[in-house]
Amino acid sequence: MDPLPIAVLISGRGTNLQSLINASLQGDFPARIAVVVSNKPGVEGLVRAARAGIRTAVFDHRTYESREAFDDAVRARIDASGARLVVLAGFMRRLSPAFVAHYRDRLINIHPSLLPAFPGLDVHRRVIESGARFSGCTVHFVRAELDAGPIILQAAVPVHPGDTEASLAARVLEMEHGALPQAVRWFAEGCIRVEGERVQVDGAAPPAGVLVNPFPAQANVS
Ligand code: GRF
Repeated sequence: MDPLPIAVLISGRGTNLQSLINASLQGDFPARIAVVVSNKPGVEGLVRAARAGIRTAVFDHRTYESREAFDDAVRARIDASGARLVVLAGFMRRLSPAFVAHYRDRLINIHPSLLPAFPGLDVHRRVIESGARFSGCTVHFVRAELDAGPIILQAAVPVHPGDTEASLAARVLEMEHGALPQAVRWFAEGCIRVEGERVQVDGAAPPAGVLVNPFPAQANVS
């Protein structure tokens, strides 16, 4: 089967984009990146794409007179590429409801928290301040509301007592780099169904065990 053409939208360093590039180099990956779109010129993600021989397009949002005009230009470029799935991988701009509706159930985002907790910006600082014992990442279909929509996949990590924003971000990012290619793979293989506002993943095994953090002392049972 031909790999599914996808578009990846970025705004910055592009390590999640890199995880998709690396996955697609593995041979059996069922998707290929048709175009990388950035709303910021000169970012590291564009260099990563160019190095991998992937087409890039820059739409500098500051040069558009409205959000809709920017979104229309991006949409036209994505559709011209033939992409059937759009991946927001560190894309830091709100998209208009019309854009989101155009790609309903074929537009996904990765967010560095366990949604619906901690949508928005400054996630890791807010997680640490809240005292939450776990954080993680979420890959989800995009809806018009910020960081909302049917959840495809989540990965959890513990929050450690001495964590800084940077140390927690690094722990979460490592999980992101596994989660995003996995979600794209499932989508491309046709394993994902949106029913109501919940996602069914055919063939995904339920995880074993229970997560506890901090781990309690072993109960003394004789
Ligand atoms: C990631 O943490 C992603 O979840 C968030 O922005 C960050 C982008 O990192 N939306 P990168 O550009 O993929 O390295």
